[in-house]
Amino acid sequence: MLTQIVILGASGDLTSRKLTPAVFNAHCQGLFPGPIQMVGVARREWDDAYFRQHLSDAMPSDQPLEQGLWEEFLQHVSYLRAHLDSEEGYAALAQGLDQLAGGEAVNRVFYLSIKPDLFLPSVRGLHGAGLLQQAYQEPFRRVVVEKPFGTDLQSASTLNRALLELMGEDQLYRIDHYLGKETVQNILAFRFRNAFFEPLWNQKHVDLVQVTVAEDMGVGSRAGYYDESGALRDIVQNHALQLLALVAMEPPANLDADSIRSEKVKVLQSLRPPEAMIADPDPHIVRAQYEGYLQEDGVPVGSLTETYIAARTYIDNWRWGGVPILIRTGKYLPARFTSVQVQFRMPPHSLFGSWAECHLRPNAITLRIQPREGIDVHFEVKEPGSGQNMRPAALTFDYDSLFGRRPEAYQRLLQDVVAGDQSLFIRSDEVEASWRWADGVRQVMDQMPMLSYPPKTWGPKQANALFRECEGMWSKE
Ligand SMILES: NC(=O)c1ccc[n+]([C@@H]2O[C@H](COP(=O)([O-])OP(=O)(O)OC[C@H]3O[C@@H](n4cnc5c(N)ncnc54)[C@H](OP(=O)(O)O)[C@@H]3O)[C@@H](O)[C@H]2O)c1
Repeated sequence: MLTQIVILGASGDLTSRKLTPAVFNAHCQGLFPGPIQMVGVARREWDDAYFRQHLSDAMPSDQPLEQGLWEEFLQHVSYLRAHLDSEEGYAALAQGLDQLAGGEAVNRVFYLSIKPDLFLPSVRGLHGAGLLQQAYQEPFRRVVVEKPFGTDLQSASTLNRALLELMGEDQLYRIDHYLGKETVQNILAFRFRNAFFEPLWNQKHVDLVQVTVAEDMGVGSRAGYYDESGALRDIVQNHALQLLALVAMEPPANLDADSIRSEKVKVLQSLRPPEAMIADPDPHIVRAQYEGYLQEDGVPVGSLTETYIAARTYIDNWRWGGVPILIRTGKYLPARFTSVQVQFRMPPHSLFGSWAECHLRPNAITLRIQPREGIDVHFEVKEPGSGQNMRPAALTFDYDSLFGRRPEAYQRLLQDVVAGDQSLFIRSDEVEASWRWADGVRQVMDQMPMLSYPPKTWGPKQANALFRECEGMWSKE
């Protein structure tokens, strides 16, 4: 049966940069279960020809494009003009989609690539025009919601409740594009398909877990958006917590969407509430702005938006009790990478000198999420020759050398939406548990001084106090 992938907000940046290459690649490789139409919807007075030309011009330069395949794909692409803030807009949309389907029964995916304040009105509009009602199984009606899903717990749960009055959770696909990355999906395979890591993956052997999302640029032209969000909302509440949930969860009963998401949500619910740590004499949350942020175009005078945040927390359950979890993200750091590092305890007795001086490094496993995707296992080796001098060494796995080119996150996610697999999408209780914790961080953070750091440095020095052992232990990848 034909599936219409209907993108609301199709004249925008996300559609040309990410969604179109994703649909194109999946279509060319025959990865959708049946034929598809991609239908772009926006207000401007474009037609099919203009929309297709716009997509051709905007195709990312790193996208290999075989002209014949692209021309064939464009035959499946149409444009419908509609105002998504009026009832008539949705009636026109319904009529246009039916016409494109030629009167046949079709599956429909509605991708909300629009501003978050249009998420609920557009779902109401789709519902009002009869576009969301689905029979028992087919044809299906699914809605993909972009991030950010809410700005705090209250707005996220209000949005959840309102959306779920209009459709079932099984129709709703909340995106966090990190979950479409192969490196993120591989976390479960790495942990639960290999016998030798999992026995060590607990508080008996793990000393600390670090999640880092480092960006090497400032806010650039996105200051308007960024200043309303900040590092906590933009990165920690979603990407960083999703990574942590996968790294820390228990093995699911099986790989179906609800089994995986039920285990993830337990991790999020076990995060120690930041408010409960307020009496801790050491700071456990550090916020900062890079020097020059307030002078960036579009940043309001005196803005108190953090461009850097570091937090130490704990997962209060049997597996992770007492293990510090360090989460940090920032703009304008010296490098751009995302990683999770699991650092192991030192051996119970040292034959090779004192580690009080920090000369010996702990063993560690680094999951390199992006951009140099791979996994490193760090350990120590003895230098050749007399004496007992140690050197760090690593066993390294790189995706590039083993697999070559891999699908983009959005491609995998769109394939899964059409296939009806929700494993890589966030469930309502997950999104609320993440916001509950992030709201607590905000409450505590607002009482902390706003520190500053020079661009291209690893954030304010005060963040080092989040470590118990010694300075400079933050993973620099
Ligand atoms: N861009 C990214 O890399 C990125 C990354 C993560 C998440 N997201 C999320 O993805 C969504 C889309 O992002 P974007 O960057 O593509 O946004 P964008 O460039 O602002 O595009 C949104 C599009 O929506 C259309 N639109 C706005 N109001 C409308 C209305 N009332 N009726 C019909 N169409 C309307 C606009 O087209 P017309 O003016 O022609 O109507 C505009 O082209 C946002 O929720 C964003 O938070 C984007």
